[in-house]
Amino acid sequence: MDALDKKLEQIDMMRLPRHVAMIMDGNGRWAKLRGQDRCMGHVEGVNSVRKVTELSSDLGIDYLTLYAFSTENWNRPQEEVDTLMHLIGMAIERETPDLIKNNVHLNLIGALDRMPQEAYDRLHRCELATAHCNGLTLTLALSYSGRWEIVDAVKKIAQDVKEGSLDPSQIDDATIQRCLATYDMPDPDLLIRTGGDNRVSNYLLWQIAYSELYFTPTLWPDFGKEAYADALIAYQQRERRFGKTSEQVQEDNKIIK
Ligand code: IPE
Ligand code: IPE
Ligand code: MG
Repeated sequence: MDALDKKLEQIDMMRLPRHVAMIMDGNGRWAKLRGQDRCMGHVEGVNSVRKVTELSSDLGIDYLTLYAFSTENWNRPQEEVDTLMHLIGMAIERETPDLIKNNVHLNLIGALDRMPQEAYDRLHRCELATAHCNGLTLTLALSYSGRWEIVDAVKKIAQDVKEGSLDPSQIDDATIQRCLATYDMPDPDLLIRTGGDNRVSNYLLWQIAYSELYFTPTLWPDFGKEAYADALIAYQQRERRFGKTSEQVQEDNKIIK
């Protein structure tokens, strides 16, 4: 039995997170440590994307949502932005046959109209080609930020109120949830951030209200299946109380069993 199998054995398959979100950070530092250009870190980071997608799919996790490019990342040097856009499009095109083979459906969230046409076309083609897949939903957050998404939701709600189809007194959590880019997904159970920084950087701000947060110093290109298994094991050791007491949660669990 190899090291990964040993870790996987510790995971309770009945208590897997339904939705895992990841902030893939640390590519630039990974490259710098090797005396390479930051972009080499992004190239290597694609392998980690493949690994976490494969493991999510193999375990039967329903949703994996990866932060690939933030609204704020548009402010990076143009050369890095161009390389990233090119790389994302190329990687997705190359991986499409495997995504189909593994029954993975690609979903995109973010201000995609800001993407260069070439990258957008490649992503869109993959979205269409995997539309029939009903295993893992792999969502790439591109040109995405939580505040952008909330502003967008507020605009939709304001429009409905203006048109008279919605009364302000009817607005509740569900109204807002329905207007988010993630309207058809459950909230993430687990949010993993690699790269050693303990912040959420404008990611899924509404949706992570009750997510378990897992921060690891491992740089994204070094984050593989074993490191992912460690995060899942840590997640299963937590007690999710959702505001209740520990005693209440234990009582609820007895009823479910
Ligand atoms: C994450 O790695 C990838 C993106 C933000 C697109 P970084 O490029 O942020 O790497 P560091 O944080 O500078 O090491
Ligand atoms: C977060 O990483 C965004 C992505 C991983 C796409 P950043 O490297 O942009 O985050 P900050 O700016 O250090 O918070
Ligand atoms: Mg970073």
